[in-house]
Amino acid sequence: PTATIGLTGLAVMGRNLARNIARHGHTIAVHNRTAARTTSLLEEHGDEGSLVATGSLEELVAAVEQPRVLIVMVKAGEPTDAVVDALVPLLDEGDIVVDAGNAHPDDTTRRQQQLEEHGLHFVGMGVSGGEEGALHGPSIMVGGSDHAYDRLGPVVESIAAQVDGEPCATHVGPGAAGHFVKMVHNGIEYADMQLIAESYDLLRSVLGISPAEVADIFEEWNGGDLESFLIELTADVLRHTDRTSGTPFVDVVADAAEQKGTGRWTVQSALDLGVPVTGIAEATFARSLSGHREQRDAARKVFDTDPDPVEVDRDRFVDDVRAALYASKVVAYAQGFDQIAAGAEANGWDIDLGAVATIWRGGCIIRAQFLDRIREAYADEPDLTTLLTTPYFAQAVLDGVHSWRRVVATAAQSGVPVPAFGSSLSYFDGLRRERLPAAVIQLLRDSFGAHSYQRTDRPGTFHTAWAGDLAEVEIEA
Ligand code: 6PG
Repeated sequence: PTATIGLTGLAVMGRNLARNIARHGHTIAVHNRTAARTTSLLEEHGDEGSLVATGSLEELVAAVEQPRVLIVMVKAGEPTDAVVDALVPLLDEGDIVVDAGNAHPDDTTRRQQQLEEHGLHFVGMGVSGGEEGALHGPSIMVGGSDHAYDRLGPVVESIAAQVDGEPCATHVGPGAAGHFVKMVHNGIEYADMQLIAESYDLLRSVLGISPAEVADIFEEWNGGDLESFLIELTADVLRHTDRTSGTPFVDVVADAAEQKGTGRWTVQSALDLGVPVTGIAEATFARSLSGHREQRDAARKVFDTDPDPVEVDRDRFVDDVRAALYASKVVAYAQGFDQIAAGAEANGWDIDLGAVATIWRGGCIIRAQFLDRIREAYADEPDLTTLLTTPYFAQAVLDGVHSWRRVVATAAQSGVPVPAFGSSLSYFDGLRRERLPAAVIQLLRDSFGAHSYQRTDRPGTFHTAWAGDLAEVEIEA
């Protein structure tokens, strides 16, 4: 065998990942179910490095040095199961199967247990950055055993994006930690995009400006604290016009946002963990709402009156939206990192949150200057309770809080939906509030179902006889 590593699944992500690996001097054996893709990869890019074409999984396995590392880059779910099942009988103890797709962490855990029975290692590896990232340097979140990372680490660290000389790839933790972190990355990606979309809607609707003018504003924002890949892309896509009609392109694209599921998984997991990821949840629901064509048509017929236009000062409003976007983004990331911490604790994964922020600075879809601030916050205090209260972010939110309130109020007055802005502000207000109305909920629960409550003035668990003499009894532990 001559190859350091093998890869099966040469659709665009797999193909680009293989080229990236070859370009970095590693010999890589490649395989695809239909051989034509393997042939075309070798024909078109065989001169970029050492690519070894193989015609079957048997040949692929035979081509790689032991302990073998075999990357599987096929569709999540059943296609991945099929390839993994076919590989298992061909492998030897200590070999490593790497799933580089967007798998559900529970599937990764299941596959890991299956392979462990055969003395094999299964790695769930999150790869972010789309097609371009796969080729030029993605961000890579690796889960699984130390044995697997010893073998895989040098390759992935060499092909990942590099920021300040540090690779955007790391062993985030054992088990399904890699795919869990990638899942939350995508959830944050949903929140980021929803906040951008709300900002666009506000600027356009309240100020009555064109998409190209909104693009200019985003371009300017990209020069400041908000600098990020997605803000930069937003300026580009908003400036584009339809080739045939000359209409702003954003106006000819159907306004129903699709999803492949990672955002939904993030919210489902957050519900199970009890972590309020309101930004991600609202972003996911906003996509669902956008797709409910019939309900939207029905509602527009009945409620077609627009609220009165709201007069605002243009420059001040633009700056308010910028500040609201930044504060809401801080909340969404604080929530996402809370979820990673909770997932790590529930599964015994011991994830270094600072390392996660570090590898998200480059390569991935949510890459942003902002992540350097998060990295610093965890470097100062690894066991942070919440990012929101660290000096830099607390100051950012305090600086923006009045803008944030004005924007949410203006949105409500103008009838522009801002679920992510609004819920992020409510989350912030919920956290900082001296007394929450949760006491009312406790009283109601105790009143209709004797569910009991605790008191602020002394320890213990109590129940009041609401239907009787209103006597309070202490409930034995
Ligand atoms: C990435 C992206 C990538 C993909 C999303 C899209 O990190 O490179 O997140 O994984 O673009 O899965 O997800 P939706 O189709 O659900 O928006």
